[in-house]
Amino acid sequence: MTFTGRTTVITGASSGIGRALAVALAARGARVGVTARRADRLADLAREIRATGGTVETAPADVADRPALLAAVRTLEARLGPADLLIANAGMSYHTGAAEMNVPRVEEIMRVNFLGVVYAVEAVLPGMIERGHGHVVGMSSLAAFKGFPGAAAYCASKAALNAYLEGLRIELRSKGVAVTTVCPGFVNTPIVANNPAMPFLMEPDEAARRILRALRRRPGVFSFPWPLAVLMKLAKWAPDWLVAKKVPTKRGEGEKKN
Ligand SMILES: NC(=O)c1ccc[n+]([C@@H]2O[C@H](COP(=O)([O-])OP(=O)(O)OC[C@H]3O[C@@H](n4cnc5c(N)ncnc54)[C@H](OP(=O)(O)O)[C@@H]3O)[C@@H](O)[C@H]2O)c1
Repeated sequence: MTFTGRTTVITGASSGIGRALAVALAARGARVGVTARRADRLADLAREIRATGGTVETAPADVADRPALLAAVRTLEARLGPADLLIANAGMSYHTGAAEMNVPRVEEIMRVNFLGVVYAVEAVLPGMIERGHGHVVGMSSLAAFKGFPGAAAYCASKAALNAYLEGLRIELRSKGVAVTTVCPGFVNTPIVANNPAMPFLMEPDEAARRILRALRRRPGVFSFPWPLAVLMKLAKWAPDWLVAKKVPTKRGEGEKKN
């Protein structure tokens, strides 16, 4: 599959991986519809893409606000045509330690990282099923494979997302709609700004390049970079004492990571 002439909707496109994906897709000839909360950043992105001859439309929304997100996607589809590809990428992270339970934080992480994807899928999936083609992509994380101390809620949100997308993928096999779960390792964006250690760190442009290369074959799951993906799969079976020793949890309770 190529991206030329395809309508793509990307959530969380005002920064980091989503932004890099928007630029890269526009450069490959896709019509790109972008959303996020920060309208000024989306406007900057649109200027940059249009300056190089690309096609882009913006519609700001909070992915945790279901009616607002549905309306934003409707706006983008009205201007660009029905979505062929959704990249539900918006996400956030807070430190969520066990010493002081912060349930509102946990709820917020689940609303954005999990329900925000569900709402985005809701916005495009009926049309894709009706048309008999489409590609739904959810931005998960290698953190989905293991519950890490201090990041329990983030890991849980991504693990929930993996299971949700897996179920969708199997169900949609016969409907012509592909579903891909993308699990990146560390990418140099504001979300990981306070992380103490980031092996195999890569830049957003490089992450976008790898993601788009993989999406052309519409895989069920794309985990990268592969050495870290292997390590994370092994970490699933690591004893708790070893993980507790190796994973630092120095950050303060409730501190925002992005
Ligand atoms: N960076 C990494 O190492 C890494 C690794 C694995 C997975 N990921 C995942 O990759 C995705 C993108 O993250 P990133 O690294 O590119 O971080 P980022 O640069 O902080 O970008 C996060 C994006 O999500 C948007 N967003 C956050 N909350 C939102 C909300 N409530 N409604 C709408 N948009 C919202 C932000 O836009 P606004 O603030 O303008 O709304 C921003 O565009 C996330 O799902 C993250 O979990 C990142």
